[in-house]
Amino acid sequence: MLPRTIDWDDGRIVLVDQTALPDLRTAAVRTVDELVDAIRRLVVRGAPALGVAGALGVALAARTLDGAALADAAERIAAARPTAVNLRWGVERALAAGPGGALAEALAIRDADIASCHAIGRRGADLLAALCGDRALRIHTHCNAGALACVEWGTALGVVRDLRADGRLELVVADETRPLLQGARITAVELVALGVPHRVVADGAAASIIARGLVDAVVVGADRIAANGDVANKIGTYPLALAAARAGIPFVVAAPESTVDLDTPDGAHIEIEERDPEEVLGVAGRRTAPAGSDAWNPAFDVTPADLVTAIVTERRTWEP
Ligand code: MRU
Repeated sequence: MLPRTIDWDDGRIVLVDQTALPDLRTAAVRTVDELVDAIRRLVVRGAPALGVAGALGVALAARTLDGAALADAAERIAAARPTAVNLRWGVERALAAGPGGALAEALAIRDADIASCHAIGRRGADLLAALCGDRALRIHTHCNAGALACVEWGTALGVVRDLRADGRLELVVADETRPLLQGARITAVELVALGVPHRVVADGAAASIIARGLVDAVVVGADRIAANGDVANKIGTYPLALAAARAGIPFVVAAPESTVDLDTPDGAHIEIEERDPEEVLGVAGRRTAPAGSDAWNPAFDVTPADLVTAIVTERRTWEP
């Protein structure tokens, strides 16, 4: 059993340090500056976990600040990463509860995430049974949309967990997810802990694995879903959707309603985080490209709604 990804303990935010995985270490955050740094470095990551982090960050700030100073601190947290809408959503919810109510609101968001993930898992597993028939499935996933991206259960991996409980899971194929290896380091840790049969594959292998018929469906999480159903998720998701469409297999997005952003009309309006080129020019902190090379490092891509078979939330199955 893995510990909770994020929790509140006696005036501190306690996190599983996702930069250290597969080694299991925890980190304690006591100030807004420490939280902003932890979010930027991906010590805490994954859209639902970022929503909880944002809300708990406001609760942390509200212990010593109020008025304009609290609003400034909240804005610094919300702006730490731009793409996952849950971060700003969590900050705004806690801020709206006022200094006296921020912690209770943040803890409610934490608890609601656990319930949402269970509902998403059930709904997603039922959908896949309807789409793929009564058989054990091979599920392809990208990045990490499991317990370590949420509080303790997971969205895409919540679906996997329910499929397994139903006796309908054969294999998970997990893309390694360059440059920061959320698949090879984080999803693989979860799958080992759960005892789920899996194969980690290089990102470049994904499309041909789908084309060769080695998986039955793609299930991924999301960082922001626009009003028209366009989906931003970890860079490398869009190619999976293209390959799934070509192969005629379902491409399913599993995400809470808090990831749906009705203020963003379509994917073209989603800000895509550009990260440090050094993450691409090296592996695990060791430079692999020669001096003089430069890189592009977009952290997310947008899958157009027409490539999405269904978006499964805790409330509905949406075919955009
Ligand atoms: O950069 P990250 O690791 O925060 O990116 C995370 C993802 O892209 C996840 O797939 C997404 O947040 C959904 S997590 C349930």
